Amino acid sequence: MATKNYLHGHHASVLRSHSWRTVQNSAPHLIPHLTSPTLKILDVGCGPGTISVDLAQRVPQGFVYAIDPSEAVIEKARQHAAEKGVSNIRFEVGDIFNWEALDGVEEKGFDIVHAHQVLQHLQDPLGAMKEMKRLTKPGGIVAVRDADYSAFTWYPEIPGLRKWSALYLKAAQSIGCDPNIGRRLHAVALEAGFDRKDIEASAAVWVFSTPEERKWWCGLWAERTLQSEFKHKVLEKGLGTVEDLEAIAESFRELEGREDGWFSAMNGQVICHVRDP
Ligand SMILES: C[S@@+](CC[C@H](N)C(=O)[O-])C[C@H]1O[C@@H](n2cnc3c(N)ncnc32)[C@H](O)[C@@H]1O
Repeated sequence: MATKNYLHGHHASVLRSHSWRTVQNSAPHLIPHLTSPTLKILDVGCGPGTISVDLAQRVPQGFVYAIDPSEAVIEKARQHAAEKGVSNIRFEVGDIFNWEALDGVEEKGFDIVHAHQVLQHLQDPLGAMKEMKRLTKPGGIVAVRDADYSAFTWYPEIPGLRKWSALYLKAAQSIGCDPNIGRRLHAVALEAGFDRKDIEASAAVWVFSTPEERKWWCGLWAERTLQSEFKHKVLEKGLGTVEDLEAIAESFRELEGREDGWFSAMNGQVICHVRDP
């Protein structure tokens, strides 16, 4: 199954970023809700599966079902689970809008339905939220977290990074996605039929400030800007030139080299409680 409109694509630099993710650093809002070792969890748009495998380790008598439309990334996720010796998990190629093609996924079948950094990549995030709600048991939760690209900040001010930010927003919007959806996940949940009292909305920030953190984050964005799907989209849509992208990559390298450099990325997150109909 292809992911033709997925802005990030699955270049090695992108997967390096996603493979760093754990429950602790990327799903802190979910931790208080991992209350039983028998929970059944669905992870939608799991990417290389490091969060999914971490979740499976936290519910040893439970089960995680994780899907992603990219076959290559699902293969990586399976390998990761095998390397960790985690067997209470199943990775399948799948699409949030096409559950009929999958067995083992049932309406009201899961205690937790989770998606991390997925709704920002969908043209129909509301439809996705409705699907997630439909698949959750009464008494269970839908847990969603997404970045808010306009709320990313850095120090010192480097003009090339301002250009990157503007270009990223344009590229995402040009394919009908909302790169700032982190700030309105609660609004999407309301529209999907959750009561406001059943929605816990919060935010958490990734900070990259030590030399190691800056090297990792700035290095991978420099590479992503020059090599990943983002580059192809920018060129294909005529939003920028190779020279623009090279200047942006250089700006990330500049931030990496600044001892006083800082980059922070705000993520909006919601826990939505599913009640009896
Ligand atoms: C930014 S990545 C996040 C991966 C993972 N959740 C993580 O945080 O490491 C977004 C993922 O959503 C997947 N995706 C895109 N469209 C999808 C769809 N219609 N249904 C399910 N997943 C989708 C992409 O293939 C990609 O792996």
